[in-house]
Amino acid sequence: MDFRVALIPGDGIGPEIVAEARKVLDAVAVKYGHRFTYETLLMGGCSIDACGVPLTEEAVAAAKASDAVLLGAVGGDVGNSRWYSVAPGLRPEAGLLKIRKELELFANIRPAYLYEELKAACPLRDEIIGEGFDMVIMRELTGGLYFGVHETKEEDGLRKATDVLNYNEEEIRRIAVKGFEVAMKRRKNVISVDKANVLDSSRLWRKVVEEVAADYPEVKLTHMLVDNCAMQLVKDPAQFDVILTENMFGDILSDEASMVTGSIGMLSSASLGAGKLGLYEPSHGSAPDIAGQGIANPIATVLSAAMMLRYSFDLDREADAVEAAVRQVLKEGWRTCDIYSEGTKKVGTAEMGDLIAARV
Ligand code: NAD
Ligand code: IPM
Ligand code: MN
Repeated sequence: MDFRVALIPGDGIGPEIVAEARKVLDAVAVKYGHRFTYETLLMGGCSIDACGVPLTEEAVAAAKASDAVLLGAVGGDVGNSRWYSVAPGLRPEAGLLKIRKELELFANIRPAYLYEELKAACPLRDEIIGEGFDMVIMRELTGGLYFGVHETKEEDGLRKATDVLNYNEEEIRRIAVKGFEVAMKRRKNVISVDKANVLDSSRLWRKVVEEVAADYPEVKLTHMLVDNCAMQLVKDPAQFDVILTENMFGDILSDEASMVTGSIGMLSSASLGAGKLGLYEPSHGSAPDIAGQGIANPIATVLSAAMMLRYSFDLDREADAVEAAVRQVLKEGWRTCDIYSEGTKKVGTAEMGDLIAARV
């Protein structure tokens, strides 16, 4: 079958890791007889340099016209790069927020899974790791603090800044439904994470999640406060199946969850809306500290491409093949430096891509 993929390499390590995901997709195309047509779009700092804005309307239109979008990462060294001397709405990250909003991608799925082979890269002690863990973070992506009013002003000689956090029940309901649907295909356990002891938005979140839960009697729902969740993730990660949470909490908790899988370079993500069009990206950023060195881990991006095959193209067998190829490469002992441990074999970004592509 034919699929149009909008590729957004972005900044920093973005182009390096997207090139490897593309290699793997090309291997899938050859093996299974599909055709992926790529259109490369600018977003982030590279778009600021070329067009003066982090995302043009043309790029948005091209993304909307594609079957799926595969993204590397955007942004530079925050506070120490020319891209951050302009208004917030013109900075690299504004492009990412804009594309998520324009494509109405309210559901961000971030699976955090500990590969047996990566136990040595996990910073937790063996008795905590136990049999390992396998969780999915369902993060609301187009509401909350990210999209509230942001304002900085000076009043009576005092500088003040405001960021508004709001949610309406519809926004909560649709992500909750996705969360429960995902849970139905897994271990049927949802932990909804909020700050209901302090925030009104969290109290509404809890109510609406409970209303949705009534439609899923087979799923066990518990509520957990976000500060406790941050602690539980390193105390007993195996207790989590589906974590359902709002935008900002999901951002923070997913970076934490990624590290217990060995590295943030392993954490893939899919951002979905009501239809088939999705945006697929690693959960990590553009890693300016290692950009251009050919050492970034491309696995999160490769696994994001596998999610694209599964969710936007309905190519489950092909997605399984990519995931199996990643597992095989890890089993054979190949590691980028972020997941390296003694006795394994260190490779760079491009070699890792080659190894995975060859095993599809
Ligand atoms: P980061 O995720 O880019 O990097 C954090 C640390 O993890 C760094 O030490 C980096 O080297 C390492 N790391 C990240 N990805 C890696 C990989 N694939 N392989 C090996 N190591 C990896 O977070 P940051 O440093 O806080 O942010 C850098 C820039 O990225 C900022 O401009 C930020 O806004 C942006 N950012 C973009 C996205 C995105 O585009 N989705 C996500 C997060 C951050
Ligand atoms: C992520 C990133 C983004 C976010 C930034 C770059 C806007 O951290 O995708 O996790 O906070 O959503
Ligand atoms: Mn993040």
